[in-house]
Amino acid sequence: MFPPPPTCTTFLLVTIFLLAMILPSSNAQLNSTFYATTCPNVSSIVSNIVQQAFLSDPRIGASLIRLHFHDCFVNGCDASLLLDNSSSILSEKLAAPNVNSTRGFDVVDNIKTAVESSCPGVVSCADILALAAESSVSQSGGPSWSALLGRRDSLTANQAGANSSLPSPFEGLTNITAKFTAVGLNTNDVVALSGAHTFGRAQCRLFSNRLYNFSGTGSPDPTINSTYLTTLQQICPQNGNGSVLANLDPTTQMPSIIITSPTCKTIKVFSNQTKSYFPQLALPQSLLSTASVATKLPSSRVLCSR
Ligand code: HEM
Repeated sequence: MFPPPPTCTTFLLVTIFLLAMILPSSNAQLNSTFYATTCPNVSSIVSNIVQQAFLSDPRIGASLIRLHFHDCFVNGCDASLLLDNSSSILSEKLAAPNVNSTRGFDVVDNIKTAVESSCPGVVSCADILALAAESSVSQSGGPSWSALLGRRDSLTANQAGANSSLPSPFEGLTNITAKFTAVGLNTNDVVALSGAHTFGRAQCRLFSNRLYNFSGTGSPDPTINSTYLTTLQQICPQNGNGSVLANLDPTTQMPSIIITSPTCKTIKVFSNQTKSYFPQLALPQSLLSTASVATKLPSSRVLCSR
């Protein structure tokens, strides 16, 4: 289990997930009691499986919330990410931002199996991802909230969309912000949602350019604190094994190593302005969570991967 996160981590996790609480609040189609009569125990079923998964994999919470994000950014939160390759489907799992990177699919399958055995054909895989994200955060020492539910599952995937829409660690804040803007989110949302990088891990290959030859300068990224730089260089030697993992936020005093913006400082400023901050975020985030999902049928798959 992750210990309760202190200082800046608390700011970030609280901020993100307060946002998640208000995510689709303006959309009447989603609500926290969507399965109250059809699958009243769905939250505890999800939570129990996530809890079991934590026992053997302390990273699983981070991996599960990332699945929700990578699902939502491509055609909305419709579980398209979970579909495997088939004769008619080019899986999003194999898109560059996901392959050899996203993980936790087996846990999602276990959750789906457990939910199906209690409530067959009722709960969508997209809602399972939303519930698993919430459970992951609360069990990792972050806040909890009532996930808003009622999403439907897509029957198709969009691998090309996953390649083009998901942000890359090699692009600057302008491009990243543009990708958020494309799904109705703004700069504030980039900052707030990047707070998810207060847990989880990243492979050296995805950030070691910042440790040795940042933007072709032949030197490390000057914004990385020198002690932290030394630590990261030890974990990720130049030309070493790119799949070695580093904690995204090892000390909680550092902003995420993944994007260069000073997320920690900025989030503190934002969180002191909650009156304007939260209402500003509610609308765009509601767009993200519902985009292009509502028209897809059927509402849930028997297996999440097919
Ligand atoms: C803002 C643009 C973002 C970029 C460029 C980015 C990029 C990345 C990269 C490169 C990794 C490491 C993957 C690996 O090593 O295989 C990562 C991990 C992670 N990302 Fe992001 N990300 C972004 C936004 C987000 C958002 C919005 C969330 C969730 C709300 C999120 C949640 C996570 C988590 C939890 C991990 C760790 C996953 C694990 O340990 O399995 N990221 N991200």
